[in-house]
Amino acid sequence: MKSISSNNPKDKLIFALDAAGYEEALSWIDLLSGHVGMFKIGKELFTSVGPKIIEIIKQRERRVFLDLKFHDIPNTVARAAEAAVALNVDIFNVHAAGGSRMMRETVDAVAACAGRRGIKSPVVLAVTVLTSLNNSDLLEIGFEKTTDELVMHLAKMAHLAGVTGVVASPRDIAAIRSACGKDFVIVTPGIRSTDEPVKDDQKRTLSAFEAIRAGADYVVVGRPIRNAPDPIAACCRIIDEITSGLASREST
Ligand code: C5P
Repeated sequence: MKSISSNNPKDKLIFALDAAGYEEALSWIDLLSGHVGMFKIGKELFTSVGPKIIEIIKQRERRVFLDLKFHDIPNTVARAAEAAVALNVDIFNVHAAGGSRMMRETVDAVAACAGRRGIKSPVVLAVTVLTSLNNSDLLEIGFEKTTDELVMHLAKMAHLAGVTGVVASPRDIAAIRSACGKDFVIVTPGIRSTDEPVKDDQKRTLSAFEAIRAGADYVVVGRPIRNAPDPIAACCRIIDEITSGLASREST
């Protein structure tokens, strides 16, 4: 696996590069490259501008989380994963609901492909239950477990299938850490400052300090940086919180 684990608090901050087009993305990359550890590229940006945005980030020696949440038959996801390895991304993700075989074939294909290329494997994360789904949504699509039960079930399944970690909402960090062990990578979105709460669609939020203290390895932050009057100052504040969260975790 790519050795992306680092004790540098800045490396634990992933900026959600939720930009609509190339120019906007580029201006954020130029502004924040010295202030965040990684850029997360989602479906909107990747679909509109394609792989060149990854090259731009790599030229600035920053890391890339390709957040495309692959979910398909095992062969298709494994081939898409090899394409992600070829793009030299540091993290990418799949839906755990694609099943153990899909995750296992993906992890194996990634290791083999990275080996052939002589590069480190990217971290493969599993998405458990989308935070937009509640218990009645799950019932509607035929799942009888609650969201909490299904998150834990899928996280354990992903762990057993050899996936490196999960994307986990703030409220699931502690339970996943305790069920899947200290080496399982936990990446947490839904980060909001307790001092200046942002009113938007994130419902279950924690501060970066709380998320890191609870056991997250990385925090994903978008709007609290993008909408801040001074985005660089916002990054610095979050990095300070990560530093305090790490110290608090070590002292307990
Ligand atoms: O702007 P904000 O800080 O809410 O951005 C969070 C990022 O993390 C967005 O790119 C969002 O799509 C992503 N995300 C999330 N919740 C999840 C999974 C991903 O907010 N459960």
